[in-house]
Amino acid sequence: MKRIVILISGRGSNMEAIVEACAAQAWQARISAVISNRADAAGLDYAAARGIATSAVEHRAYPDRERFDAALAEAIDQHAPDLVVLAGFMRILTAGFVQRYAGRLLNIHPSLLPAFTGLHTHRRAIEAGCKLAGATVHYVTAELDHGPIVAQAAVPVLPDDTEQTLAARVLASEHRLYPMAVRWAVEGALRIEANGVVRQRDGAAQLLL
Ligand code: GRF
Repeated sequence: MKRIVILISGRGSNMEAIVEACAAQAWQARISAVISNRADAAGLDYAAARGIATSAVEHRAYPDRERFDAALAEAIDQHAPDLVVLAGFMRILTAGFVQRYAGRLLNIHPSLLPAFTGLHTHRRAIEAGCKLAGATVHYVTAELDHGPIVAQAAVPVLPDDTEQTLAARVLASEHRLYPMAVRWAVEGALRIEANGVVRQRDGAAQLLL
């Protein structure tokens, strides 16, 4: 059984989607822990109710990123994970932290990377007149919202979309995309080629439309 630790900062709906897919599809994996940088993250209650170990490492309690990341790594390593999954985890991680989990650290970002790294992706996509938006699952590297792309989901931007309506459409696609990508990682079905392109072993579509 592969061991998965999921990091969240708030609602945790992507974490829920992964927990449910893991159980429903009988992955050879278990969610060993859900850890948040905020003790009041709503997702912690969901995880605890499912019998999953939860903990909070409050970033505000640490004087700098290095010491926060060290405490976070200590909390994670107690569960000896094969995979660390960032699911709405809203902290920038140090290069040292990223290096520690290189090749087993995944993130989901609510844009079609490499467009719109950073925050306010939906507003920026609407303002740019994009007709297509979406989400990207990628391996985490030291550069924010970069790193080898595992899979993407694309959704339309409709003429009367607001930031909220577009965010909701993208989020629904995230809930399909992220479990699919994490499952591939659990199954060892992903390979990062020398040029940084990620291939799925069985040639499965790394795109949801
Ligand atoms: C998602 O849109 C994710 O892509 C972004 O923050 C949101 C988190 O939502 N980074 P949730 O906590 O998974 O519900």
